[in-house]
Formats: sequence, C-alpha cells, structure tokens
Amino acid sequence: MVVMADTVDDPFLSGLFSNNRAWAEKIKQENPDFFDKLAKQQAPKVLWIGCSDSRVPANEIIGMMPGEVFVHRNVANQVMLVDFNCLAVLQFAVEVLRVSHVIVCGHYGCGGVKASLKNYELGLLDNWLYGINMMGRRYEEVITALPNKAGQVDALCEINVIEQVRNVCKTSIVRQAWRRGQEVSIHGWIYGIHDGLLHDLEVSVNDATAAESTLDAALAGPRLAHR
Ligand code: CO
Repeated sequence: MVVMADTVDDPFLSGLFSNNRAWAEKIKQENPDFFDKLAKQQAPKVLWIGCSDSRVPANEIIGMMPGEVFVHRNVANQVMLVDFNCLAVLQFAVEVLRVSHVIVCGHYGCGGVKASLKNYELGLLDNWLYGINMMGRRYEEVITALPNKAGQVDALCEINVIEQVRNVCKTSIVRQAWRRGQEVSIHGWIYGIHDGLLHDLEVSVNDATAAESTLDAALAGPRLAHR
C-alpha cells in the first residue's frame, strides 16, 4: 500500500489550507453573512467558458466574488457539440440558473492554439485540438498574411473564440432558450496575459437570426488591434 504524506507534512499543501483559512476569515470580517447567504443559493448572471490556463482565472480578472460566475474551463476554451461536460454546464446555466450572459473568453498566446499549429504528437490533446487545427487551415490566408508567428497565433486565438461563440449559438440549449423568449446573450472576449486586460471581440449575439451574419462578418478580418 502506498501511504501518501499527510497534508500537514507538506509545507506547500498545508500552506494552501492556511491561505484558505485566512481568505475565509477576511471575507467574514468584511461581510459576516457572506457564506450563510451563499450556502442557501447561487444566482450568477454569467456563465464563463474559458481556457484552463492558470493565468486566466475567471473570477479574479473580472472582479467577481464567489456566487457571481458559473464557470467552465478546458484547454483552449472549446465548445464541442459532443462534449457532455460543457453542454451539461451550459444547460444548467441557461435553464436552471437562467444566466443573462454566456461569455466565451480566450486569451492571446494560448498554448492549445499554438500547439494546434504545429505537428506535435501530443496524444489525446491532438484530438482535442483538432478543431482548432482545422480552423487554422480554413483561415490560412488571413493568418499567414500576418507578419510574425506570435501575431498568427493571436489571430487564431481570436478566430477560435468567435467559432466557439458560433458553437454555443448552435446548441439546442441556446436555440430553445431564444425560441422561448429567454434573454440570454452570447459574447466573445479575449484576454491579454501580457497586460491583464480583456477585449470584447464585438460578436455579441442574442438571437438565432443575427448569429451567423454577426459571426461571419467578424471572421472576415480578425482584429489584432488590441496587441
Ligand atoms: Co489557453
């Protein structure tokens, strides 16, 4: 039998627990009812679909407290129509929590996007990134027109966000919500790891008819003005 070291014996792990106690204490000092209220219900207005990258923590970068953002993160912020995990999160957010906004947030310099442009053999990750790889081919002309590698990766990061917004709009979950007259908007944002700033890719859609034309117009020229 393997005996794992207890958390208390590991300074890094025990540090996480002391950080946690200090954090909970600080919140309670500022707002004594905070956890009691939160335990009774969550009413986030936002579903965040972002990259797993440790440098892009959803709540922190938009200044939201626990209870304010429903979060789904995976490598390169993918919304695949066969991914039960992502779809279950989307369904719960839209149908049960009735969020007003679904934000797909990518980030510049995304490692997943970078990897999709190279012919690495990464195993399962190749399957996961295949959609971005195909996007890279589809938009090859736009991408290769950019002068340097970093710019090309960033253009694909933007294209990827916009295509994932399209996928959110294609789900029966969002289509049915719109048909019912439920107000839910889908947005595409991108985050700069180099300066901590978010940018709106201006592809917000809140009905099925506008979705395709808005997204196609945005894809006619990914903006790189933010770099
Ligand atoms: Co990433």
